[in-house]
Amino acid sequence: MANESHYIIRGGESGAERLHVLGRVMRPASLAVLGRAGLAPGMDVLDLGCGSGDMTVEIARVAGSTGRVVGIDMDAGVLAHAKRDSDACGLPIEWRQARIEDVDETDSFDLVYARFLLSHLPDPRDALRRMCRAVRPLGRVVVEDIDISAHVHWPPSAAFRRYVELYTATGRARGVDPGIGPRLPALLIDAGLEAVDVAVSMPVFRQGEGKTVARITLSNIAESAMASGLTCREEIDRLARELAGHEADPRSIQSTAQVFQVIGRRPLKELDTAGV
Ligand SMILES: C[S@@+](CC[C@H](N)C(=O)[O-])C[C@H]1O[C@@H](n2cnc3c(N)ncnc32)[C@H](O)[C@@H]1O
Repeated sequence: MANESHYIIRGGESGAERLHVLGRVMRPASLAVLGRAGLAPGMDVLDLGCGSGDMTVEIARVAGSTGRVVGIDMDAGVLAHAKRDSDACGLPIEWRQARIEDVDETDSFDLVYARFLLSHLPDPRDALRRMCRAVRPLGRVVVEDIDISAHVHWPPSAAFRRYVELYTATGRARGVDPGIGPRLPALLIDAGLEAVDVAVSMPVFRQGEGKTVARITLSNIAESAMASGLTCREEIDRLARELAGHEADPRSIQSTAQVFQVIGRRPLKELDTAGV
C-alpha cells in the first residue's frame, strides 16, 4: 500500500510493545488533556491511529457502558494486540482496520482523538479535515503530537543527539513532519475549529521505563533509517549500547520529545475550511 511506506516505526507485536511503554509513560498527561476536553461517561469517541489501544482502553473506561468507543488503525498486528487487551478487560471497543485516508464518518462522535498520528502522515491537513467531519457540531477534536527536536537529556550524549537526528531525517525522507507539534494549533484553526487551546507536556525521567523510550524507539526505526541509507547496523548497535549506558547512570535524566496537546471545538455552523 503506497502510504504504508510513510510510517517509519516498526509495527506488529514488537511495535505494540513499544507503544505500551509509551502509553504508560504518557498516560497521566493524555488523560489530563482528555479531561480538559470534557471526556465524560456516555460519550461517543473515535481514536484514530489507535495503535495497540492504550488510550482507547482508557477512553472506554471513562465513556462507560452508555458510551461508544471506536479505535481505527491500519496495522492489523497492533489491532489484534489491542483487541486481546480490551477483551480481557471486558470493554466493548469497536476495533476497525482502516487507513485514515479512507475514514469517511460524518457527525458521528462527541470527541475525535489522535495521539502521535499526524507526525506520521504526509497530509496531516486531510486527516484533520476527516477528524472535523467525524465530530458532531460543538464536539471536540483532540490531537497530541511531538516536536522531535525538543528533548531534555543530561549529561550531554552524542548518541542521544544522533538518535534525534536519525529520527528526524528518517521521517523527512518519508515525507512526514516529526516536528509537527508547534504547527498543530494553526492546523486546527485552518481546519475550521474554534476555541483552540494548546499545552505542552514533556515527562522527564531519572529512572524507570520512561528512560528507555529513546533506545526502544531507535531500535524500532532502525529498518526504516537503514532503508533510507541514513545509517547502518553497526552504528545502530553502537548507539543502542551508548544509550543503555546513559540510562543506567543513576545521575542522568532523559525526557520524551516535547508533546503538544491541542483541543479544538467544531462550530455549530458549517465548517469554514477556507484556509485548508
Ligand atoms: C506512533 S503510533 C501511535 C499509536 C497510538 N495513538 C498511541 O498513542 O499509542 C502511530 C499509529 O498510527 C498508525 N498509522 C500510521 N499511518 C496511518 C494511516 N495512514 N492510517 C491509519 N493508521 C496509521 C500506525 O499503524 C500506528 O499504530
